[in-house]
Amino acid sequence: MILYLILLGFVVAHLPRFYRFVQEVRRMKRLSSVIPGDEGVFFAGHGFEFGMDPQVMPHRAVARMNRTVKESGVQLMKLWFIHENVYMPTNGETVKYILDSNDEITKGVEYDVLVPWLGTGLLISTGDKWKSRRKMLTPTFHFSMLDGYLAIMNRHAKICTELLEDRAGTKVDMYPVVKMCALDIICETAMGKELDSQRHANQPYVEAIVNLMSLGTKIAMSFHLWTPLMRYLLGIQQSYDRSLIIAHKFSKSVIDERTEALKRGEVESNKRAFLDLLLELKEQHSLNDEDIREEVDTFMFEGHDTTSSGMGWIVWCLACNPDIQERAYEEVMKVLGDDPDRDLTREDMGQLIYLERCIKESMRLYPPVPFASRQLQNDLQCGEYLLPQHSNVSVSPFVIHRNESIYPNATQFNPDNFLPERVASRNPYDYIPFSAGPRNCIGQKFAQYEEKIMTALLLRRFRFKSDGPLSSQRFAAEAILRPIDGINVMVIRR
Ligand code: HEM
Repeated sequence: MILYLILLGFVVAHLPRFYRFVQEVRRMKRLSSVIPGDEGVFFAGHGFEFGMDPQVMPHRAVARMNRTVKESGVQLMKLWFIHENVYMPTNGETVKYILDSNDEITKGVEYDVLVPWLGTGLLISTGDKWKSRRKMLTPTFHFSMLDGYLAIMNRHAKICTELLEDRAGTKVDMYPVVKMCALDIICETAMGKELDSQRHANQPYVEAIVNLMSLGTKIAMSFHLWTPLMRYLLGIQQSYDRSLIIAHKFSKSVIDERTEALKRGEVESNKRAFLDLLLELKEQHSLNDEDIREEVDTFMFEGHDTTSSGMGWIVWCLACNPDIQERAYEEVMKVLGDDPDRDLTREDMGQLIYLERCIKESMRLYPPVPFASRQLQNDLQCGEYLLPQHSNVSVSPFVIHRNESIYPNATQFNPDNFLPERVASRNPYDYIPFSAGPRNCIGQKFAQYEEKIMTALLLRRFRFKSDGPLSSQRFAAEAILRPIDGINVMVIRR
């Protein structure tokens, strides 16, 4: 009887909430019904069509998008996952409504899995916290700061080519090669710490962050791992927590070391890391050690997996297109001249026009961040359609970049897509590997420099050759676009 009363009390107490939920879903259904496209199958919506497989989902999304655009001309896809309503803008004009909004800056629940590691650093935070942090951190990516990072990028890219020298003439998985290089670059620029993971990959910190990335992805993509109990039973949570402790301990110890070094005046003004700037801003912005740690960890996370995905795909695209690779190589040699050790300067980068087109085209076809998302806090007018509060908007560079109505022959690698006249004929938001608007990638310029330096220095020494065509490479749309089998190419000494 008591149990019955408790149950009844519970039901009665939750009735108003349930009623509000039903009303909200009904309103969402009403608003979605005016947008062309189907509502999916009863109850599951489009859940079965898209599924949870990160290998299958991106292809289904692109196929549905091209079909929807062809049949209805509408550049907005509506999707239902049981009661979750997701909208996916499919071109620049439509995605601009969400990306340009200064109010709709709240990320989707997919990012929650990162919170234990990154806290609510710049990537995940919202509202006033995000606004003040973004304002505070923007100057740290000023040109004058970036120039100081170029020497670090060049040095690590050269180590990368030197280590590759021993493997020339063989087939190499270039993905871990560029990944360790990117990790060394971000560790030194963000924390002022030389990791040297390229020569010593078996370090606890390196292993910890590799583990955090892979477990984070596994948890986010596997329905059965969403409950903590299942994660504990399968031993996944324990492994995640162990890595988390190592990663946090490492960044905290670097922050302490650096604080002391700054106090003693031991950090040269031209060798300041991102962390040094944060420490200088500490008093002025009332930051505590935890605030600093979450921002440093955010940069470590955002700053290496994205660039390594980008680099991996650039190598793959060039390896599959020998003529294009040769043209890019000739340009590099023209700019860099005969000196085999010359660094790439900022001025050089401005002259590597064809290489830039190749890099841009590679990030069009294989955007390192394939999907991002927002949770609408209010109704949002998106052209003629009203997207309801609490629905989700999926911002997908992957889908937009493969829209055949924008890029004919979208699955082919064609650097000419970035000839000035072609760029001018498109909406600027038709190409968004770094997102756009107020919440775009703060590290965009940094990443572009890094990718140009690494690609140019690799091309100066080596030729890359693939066995199969471009489309033979399998990938998974996780937090980044990951080449499932690595980037296996022949590395040939020039
Ligand atoms: C090729 C490399 C990169 C790509 C393609 C990329 C792409 C992106 C994208 C698409 C977003 C928006 C994500 C979202 O809306 O959820 C983003 C945000 C961000 N990126 Fe990058 N990124 C790259 C490199 C970097 C680097 C090198 C850094 C740091 C050094 C960085 C730091 C950040 C941060 C902190 C944010 C959050 C910004 C905010 O919300 O205000 N990224 N990036």
